[in-house]
Amino acid sequence: MARKVLVLHGPNLNLLGRREPEKYGSTTLDEINHGLVEKGRQSGALVETFQSNSEADLVERVQQLMDAPVDFVIINPAAFTHTSVAIRDALAAVRVPFMEVHLSNVFAREPFRHHSYFTDLAVGMICGLGPRGYELALEYALGRP
Ligand code: DQA
Repeated sequence: MARKVLVLHGPNLNLLGRREPEKYGSTTLDEINHGLVEKGRQSGALVETFQSNSEADLVERVQQLMDAPVDFVIINPAAFTHTSVAIRDALAAVRVPFMEVHLSNVFAREPFRHHSYFTDLAVGMICGLGPRGYELALEYALGRP
């Protein structure tokens, strides 16, 4: 059975490429997603991507993993990183191992970005490496035993 990885993107990440490029770079979300799907394909893995600006949609997509599990989740919760007990609880409920990714170095930014509702539950956290962070998270996911 092919390994399955779900990549979740939170609010405003649909604007990547046009949104504060000095912080988030010029790569679009489509380009990031395409690269991840292709990288998965080369390893015989299935990579699915999902972006939503809605907390409820993200909670529901995570809840679906209860009945249709994946091997690993890569999540950039974006602003919900700092606010969402609901997405955190959904990830805890489905018990899927996950990596938290941020394009920017959240610790070099405003103090309210220094706290995450996800990091203590995550396998790990990558921040500050731009789109490369997603690639490294996927390499890790694909290399897990
Ligand atoms: C972000 C960092 C968050 O603080 C911010 O709200 C985002 C993007 C990042 O990828 O650097 O929307 O998650």
